[in-house]
Amino acid sequence: MATCSTGRASAGTTFCADLIAIGRLALLAMVMLAATSPAAGAADNTLSALDEQCLGCHSVEGMKMKLANGETLSLHVDGAAFAKSVHNLIGCAVCHRDVTLENHPPLKKKIASLRENSLALAKICSTCHAAIFKQYEGSIHAVLQRAGSPGAPICTDCHAPHAVMSKSAYDAASGAPCSGCHDPVFKAYAGSVHGEAALGCANCHRAHDVNPATTGEQLKNACLGCHEGTLSSHKAWLPNAERHFDAVSCPACHSPTAKRKVDLRLYDAVAKERVVEKAGVPQFESRARSADAKGLGLDALALQSLLLEFNREGAPKQTTLRGRLEVTTGAEAHQLAPKAKAIQDCATCHRRGADPFQSVTVSIVGADGRPVRYDAQQGVLNSMISVDSVGGFYAIGGTRIEVLDMLFVLALLIGIAVPVGHLTLTWLFRRTAKRIGGREDS
Ligand code: HEC
Ligand code: HEC
Ligand code: HEC
Ligand code: HEC
Ligand code: HEC
Ligand code: HEC
Ligand code: HEC
Ligand code: HEC
Ligand code: HEC
Repeated sequence: MATCSTGRASAGTTFCADLIAIGRLALLAMVMLAATSPAAGAADNTLSALDEQCLGCHSVEGMKMKLANGETLSLHVDGAAFAKSVHNLIGCAVCHRDVTLENHPPLKKKIASLRENSLALAKICSTCHAAIFKQYEGSIHAVLQRAGSPGAPICTDCHAPHAVMSKSAYDAASGAPCSGCHDPVFKAYAGSVHGEAALGCANCHRAHDVNPATTGEQLKNACLGCHEGTLSSHKAWLPNAERHFDAVSCPACHSPTAKRKVDLRLYDAVAKERVVEKAGVPQFESRARSADAKGLGLDALALQSLLLEFNREGAPKQTTLRGRLEVTTGAEAHQLAPKAKAIQDCATCHRRGADPFQSVTVSIVGADGRPVRYDAQQGVLNSMISVDSVGGFYAIGGTRIEVLDMLFVLALLIGIAVPVGHLTLTWLFRRTAKRIGGREDS
């Protein structure tokens, strides 16, 4: 770090980490001085002479240029907004090192497209905000951006580069910046318990390391992080609440008007994690499609042959299925209601032909971390053929495993008479489930 390297970034900017660090310290010192000096208010919104010169041209409304691909690049910068922004002390030249009063106009560099221009210029942000850039790098947004998705957000899609405001200025009520791209989710969310409590999207998904929603534990952990004691409060009425928390998503009970469905996830019983699609050679969809010759959705036999395909390599029965009850759409996942409306009635799920079990998908984790789903027929949950493969998932009454139905009724009867009987019953359920479904416990 002692030498000052001058690597050329694609924006044409050259940086030196040490200089930036020193520059940043100096900046912070200036900020602090400004805050303590009597003229603080004035210093805050004053621009340097150089910045004023740049703005002499660039504050002209409607200033723009046509790119070779036909798009229009706006060259207008709102000077007043910039003066009020957190970066007012940085100055134009720090972020735009390749353009000076002397070398333009006209511009020498070729700008291929708006997106290219944004991608190149936004690189500057990470030189001063390295820790945030690192978080962002691992997010689903960054993964999609690297894969070439034109709609995936980069720093400047969420932070207008010339009007960056402090964290405290984010207004949860407008849903910005997330709502700009996820409007259906925002609309559904606005009327929920959390929307009304003025929580923003980042409270659950975080702002920079946004993970795919249905893989991993990020969201469940966020819920449990704010709602301490949730597991024990559910245990008071819900037998084996841990199992329910694993096999039923929180919105499946807390979004009372949502349509629910079962997702059977390919699961690696040896590695004890969900199966991830091999990068570069996606196989899931093509295998599912060829197993489902009629295109009606996987039936029990097709599901079995799909699993056989995935079990060709590795230990026998290494790839199994794990069921999860979830809501059907992303919008529904956000319509969480007050607790009095949550689903408590066991029969919503534990009843023959219960609604949530009428719609079934099979899924794998795609290369970008989001699930890839394929429709299955409702019968796969009941068929004796697939008892073995869906053995990791049963819901008493929801399927045809009748001994469990009987045990369930028994559980309710005894449960009412002797509430302390839960442990024995859970044990009994486990044993029976093992015998019938060959299901392994985690
Ligand atoms: C004399 C008017 C004028 C001044 C002063 C001026 N610019 Fe420009 N600037 C332009 C014009 C015109 C263009 C469009 C280039 C073209 O048409 O060739 C431009 C383009 C740009 C671009 C767009 C290209 C890109 O990299 O995305 C940036 C950034 C820019 N100027 C920054 C600055 C900065 C920073 C300053 C102050 C150091 C400044 N300009 C001063 C007129 C000016
Ligand atoms: C914190 C870094 C930063 C500062 C400070 C900054 N800019 Fe920018 N500027 C950017 C980024 C990033 C973009 C690319 C925006 C995008 O994606 O379109 C940009 C784009 C531009 C453009 C091209 C038009 C556009 O909106 O894309 C002009 C012109 C420009 N800046 C001028 C200025 C002037 C003049 C100043 C000072 C008043 C300034 N910039 C200060 C980061 C900065
Ligand atoms: C998907 C939208 C989004 C993207 C992309 C994004 N941010 Fe943010 N950022 C936010 C939101 C929302 C907040 C404020 C809320 C919060 O932190 O909870 C924030 C806060 C910040 C903060 C101040 C608060 C903190 O956490 O320290 C900085 C600095 C920041 N972002 C920089 C960046 C940089 C640099 C990038 C690109 C590497 C980036 N952001 C990309 C949405 C985004
Ligand atoms: C030259 C260094 C530098 C560059 C480049 C830079 N920033 Fe900053 N940024 C700062 C400083 C200094 C602050 C104010 C002090 C702080 O909170 O760290 C700040 C503050 C912020 C904040 C508000 C932080 C808060 O705590 O509320 C956000 C958001 C932010 N920057 C985003 C960006 C984005 C987006 C870019 C790229 C367009 C960028 N920054 C480029 C130095 C920089
Ligand atoms: C510039 C547009 C844009 C902005 C702004 C944006 N996103 Fe995204 N986001 C996308 C795109 C595109 C995808 C991938 C397609 C999809 O799943 O909707 C995505 C995916 C996601 C996913 C994963 C979805 C899944 O299927 O698992 C989550 C979660 C997410 N965004 C949350 C957020 C949050 C929270 C914010 C605000 C901090 C935000 N997004 C801001 C464009 C955006
Ligand atoms: C209270 C926590 C919470 C908040 C706040 C929240 N979400 Fe979500 N989000 C979730 C959960 C839970 C899921 C579904 C996960 C699952 O099915 O397991 C989800 C899923 C998503 C998805 C994926 C949807 C799909 O189609 O699969 C996106 C995109 C998303 N959220 C964006 C947002 C946006 C934008 C906001 C703000 C308007 C927001 N979320 C606020 C918890 C939250
Ligand atoms: C089987 C359905 C079901 C599942 C699954 C479920 N809940 Fe609940 N939850 C309820 C019901 C019913 C209540 C209301 C209980 C009452 O009023 O005593 C409740 C109450 C709550 C409350 C209110 C306060 C409290 O602790 O009692 C919170 C917070 C909560 N749940 C969060 C969660 C989270 C987080 C998850 C996922 C990890 C989750 N719930 C999963 C049905 C469920
Ligand atoms: C940032 C903290 C935070 C996170 C994360 C969070 N919540 Fe909440 N939750 C709240 C607040 C605040 C309220 C409204 C006040 C209250 O009722 O406790 C609330 C209310 C609720 C209620 C209604 C409680 C009642 O008494 O009627 C339920 C149910 C709930 N949340 C479930 C969830 C679920 C499920 C998740 C995850 C998907 C989650 N929460 C994530 C803070 C959070
Ligand atoms: C929203 C749907 C839903 C509701 C409501 C629900 N359950 Fe369940 N329950 C499930 C699912 C799905 C499983 C399967 C878990 C598995 O096999 O991994 C399950 C499993 C069980 C098990 C077996 C747990 C074990 O030890 O393996 C019992 C016992 C049970 N539920 C009892 C109840 C009772 C009693 C109620 C009402 C107080 C209830 N459930 C409410 C969906 C639900």
